[in-house]
Amino acid sequence: MSDLLTDYSLRAHNAFGFEVHARYAQHIECETALMHARVEPRLKGLPHLILGGGSNIVLTRDFDGIVWLIALRGRRLVDEDADAWFIQAGAGENWHDFVQWTLECGWPGLENLALIPGTVGAAPVQNIGAYGLEMSERFFQLRALDIKTGKALHFDASACRFAYRESFFKQCEPGRFVIVSVVFRLPKIWQPRCAYPDIERIFAERGVRTPSPRDILDAVVAVRQSKLPDPIRLGNTGSFFKNPLIHPADFEALSIREPDLVAHPLPNGQVKLAAGQLIERCGWKGRALGHAAVHARHALVIINHGNACGADVLKLAQIIQRDVYQRFGVQLEPEPMII
Ligand code: EPU
Repeated sequence: MSDLLTDYSLRAHNAFGFEVHARYAQHIECETALMHARVEPRLKGLPHLILGGGSNIVLTRDFDGIVWLIALRGRRLVDEDADAWFIQAGAGENWHDFVQWTLECGWPGLENLALIPGTVGAAPVQNIGAYGLEMSERFFQLRALDIKTGKALHFDASACRFAYRESFFKQCEPGRFVIVSVVFRLPKIWQPRCAYPDIERIFAERGVRTPSPRDILDAVVAVRQSKLPDPIRLGNTGSFFKNPLIHPADFEALSIREPDLVAHPLPNGQVKLAAGQLIERCGWKGRALGHAAVHARHALVIINHGNACGADVLKLAQIIQRDVYQRFGVQLEPEPMII
């Protein structure tokens, strides 16, 4: 079992790069290590925090407890039937490496989700999505350890209660379930998903008419690299807010005052607005507040210019929320977990 580290810097484990410390930290490489860790006498009564890649979390202070750094590895084909391949990956696998590997093995289906930072285990928590695909559409089941009882459980898609950037794991008692592995179902009949303006533009530029899975992956990577900052160079957690969902009647009233809003009607009748556009219209794109700033190429992304702390990011986020609410009457909800 790996050592119990004390006064451990989490700088390399959170995408904002904040210098916060954990009283204890431990790398978790197998399920047995987790079983031992939950009953370790030195940790009795202390709160715990689960960290994968730290790409969707805002650490606002030191953590006076134990941080479990999930490093469970492994990826393999576990089953196949006439219609699909079933691929399992350990929660600590890097998401993008996993997506690339599935394509190399000849199992396409996750290419639209290329280059999303973070780990496989974090993907179901917020039901990652991009360029016309949500992870829930390729999910089969996951295995999680209940820290309270020590039991391992399997969750299928309905137990995970996936919705837009939502799941059971975001709503339940924080940290109670530790995801240890995920199985994806990748259909054998592959259908390209590329009706997204940014992807269509890249295909037009590259003269791609009948895209392969690799073409889609390459286009997604190109779009992300052109719009979104690399967290290794500029601390950020991707979209800081969810795109707001509003009632169609509210949207109609709003469009009279605010023409040309980007809006997607959803099957449940709601209308999804583009938070980035609302923030840009409030004049925040490219603007800084102290050491935190709104990215100049995408207004939905808050960045750390180097010396920001969690409080700086939260202050900026609150002012943006206030301005967007005053102008549009829409409440923006943060996407990352705030600790
Ligand atoms: N827009 C602006 N100004 C901006 C940014 C965007 O007007 O500064 C407008 C764009 O012109 C576009 C619309 O907003 O018409 C949507 O922009 P984009 O295609 O970049 O997507 P998004 O809705 O801002 C969502 C996800 C991203 C994902 C992209 C692509 C959320 C919260 N974010 O962003 O996910 O990569 O779609 O599918 O749903 C993430 O979750 O961290 C993330 C990056």
